[in-house]
Amino acid sequence: MEDRSGARARAFGELSVTNTGGRGTVYDYGAQVTAWTPEGERPVVWLSEQAVFTPGTAIRGGVPICFPWFGGGPNGDLTPAHGFARISPWRRMTVGEAADATTVTHHLDMTSAHAPQFPHAYRARATARFSNTLTTSLRVENTGDQAFTFEAALHTYLAVGDATHLSIDGLVGSEYLDQVTGEHAVQLGPVVIDGEVDRVYRSSSPVVVIDRSWGRRITVVKSGSASTVVWNPWVDKAKRLSDFGDDEWRGLVCVETANVKEDAVTLEPGQAHEMSAVLAVERL
Ligand code: BG6
Repeated sequence: MEDRSGARARAFGELSVTNTGGRGTVYDYGAQVTAWTPEGERPVVWLSEQAVFTPGTAIRGGVPICFPWFGGGPNGDLTPAHGFARISPWRRMTVGEAADATTVTHHLDMTSAHAPQFPHAYRARATARFSNTLTTSLRVENTGDQAFTFEAALHTYLAVGDATHLSIDGLVGSEYLDQVTGEHAVQLGPVVIDGEVDRVYRSSSPVVVIDRSWGRRITVVKSGSASTVVWNPWVDKAKRLSDFGDDEWRGLVCVETANVKEDAVTLEPGQAHEMSAVLAVERL
């Protein structure tokens, strides 16, 4: 008889890969990476122990793909939060295998996922390349005859030893919107997690998470992305989230490769845009 995890794997399209660079998992549901562990390392991509696999609900952790809007969208009134892509089944198109890398592509378009709030003809391709680095990317094409504007994020949950003992470099001098206070500010030094952090930076620079607890640095090198979101829910919000253990907030920080708010992307008919993030780990 099939066990629960087997049923889940089949229902949500789980694909686990292993190569000489490391191992990882991606689901057809949301085209969402949920694990990546380079060879000889601890996991780098975080997944909640309380993640739920239910149609219509986002998987808590991994690399959810937020599209075609971020949060509640430009005016804050759109649902589902972070768009429909992360709760849609994508079509797995290709699995390319080499000794040291596995590349998986998924496809979504207007016929398979849409919402009245986004009545546009689009084609989206998500790519995940698992190796001793992890590359995730999202390419969006306008297949219709009218321009449209979208927001997107590769909402990457990074596993860390202790969120209160890390610093995040690469954002000094960047303007950001503090989504906790609603205020705009400029980043003055490394970002530290000393309370709920929910910030949208206008930055296309690489980000480095220096994790002293686990003696490693995680670099996030972006392309095609003008926004970086840094998020940690801290104590109270972790308690409010039903699919998040009360103490799990210490074990992660989200560094999201994005184009949101003022950096939303407009595509004319026939145009395409791609953003990607490459994660790599080095010992300190
Ligand atoms: C972040 C947002 O990207 O995602 C936060 O900036 C939000 O405001 C967080 O709380 C998690 O969102 P969700 O919809 O997955 O609970």
